[in-house]
Amino acid sequence: MEVFEAIRRRKSVRAYLPTPVPREKLEKILEAARLAPSAENIQPWYFVVVTDPERRRRIAKSGRFAKFLVESPVVIVGCGDQRASPRWHLVDVAIAMQNMVLAATGEGLGTCWVGSFDEGVVRRLLKIPERFRVIALLAVGHPRGKLDLLGKMVHLIHRRKKLGEMVGFEEYGGPFR
Ligand SMILES: Cc1cc2nc3c(=O)[nH]c(=O)nc-3n(C[C@H](O)[C@H](O)[C@H](O)COP(=O)(O)O)c2cc1C
Repeated sequence: MEVFEAIRRRKSVRAYLPTPVPREKLEKILEAARLAPSAENIQPWYFVVVTDPERRRRIAKSGRFAKFLVESPVVIVGCGDQRASPRWHLVDVAIAMQNMVLAATGEGLGTCWVGSFDEGVVRRLLKIPERFRVIALLAVGHPRGKLDLLGKMVHLIHRRKKLGEMVGFEEYGGPFR
C-alpha cells in the first residue's frame, strides 16, 4: 500500500475479530518501530507484545476507554526509557508507535492508540522496570466492522480541522495560498 493511502485509510478500530495476527505481519509491524527515527539515535523504547487473554483483560479493565483490548488479539505496550533520553523518550516512542500503526494499516490490519490505562497496573502486570514510563498502548487486529459509537461521538465533539486552521505560512496565522 502506498504511504499516503495508508495515512488516509487509517482510522481507530475499536472492535476486533478473534483471528490471531499472523507472526510475519507482527514481525513487520515491530520492524517498523525498530526503523523509526529517534533523537541522537538513542532508541529509548521497549515494546511488550501482549496476546495472553487474561493479561489483556486486566489491562482493559484498568482504563475507562480501553474495553476493546479484551477483543484485539494483540496489545503492544509502548515504553519509554526516561533515563536514556529524559528529553525525548515520549516523542521517540510515539514516532515508533505511529510507524507501527501505518505498517499495520498497510498489512490490512486495524489499530487503535490507547492512552486510557493505569500505568501502575500495566507496569506490575508486565514487570516493566522503573526507568521506563508506559507511554501508550496499541490495539492491533482484524477489524470486526461494528458501529463505533465512541468514535462517532469523539468526532462530533472534535471534528477534523481544516488545513487553514492548523498551518500558518511564514508566521503564525499566515494565510495558506
Ligand atoms: C495518544 C492517543 C491516545 C488515545 N487514547 C484512546 C483511548 O484510550 N481510547 C480510545 O478509544 N481511543 C483513543 N485514542 C484514539 C483517538 O480517539 C482517535 O485517534 C481520534 O478520535 C481520531 O479518530 P481516528 O483515529 O479514527 O482518526 C487515542 C489516540 C491517541 C493518539
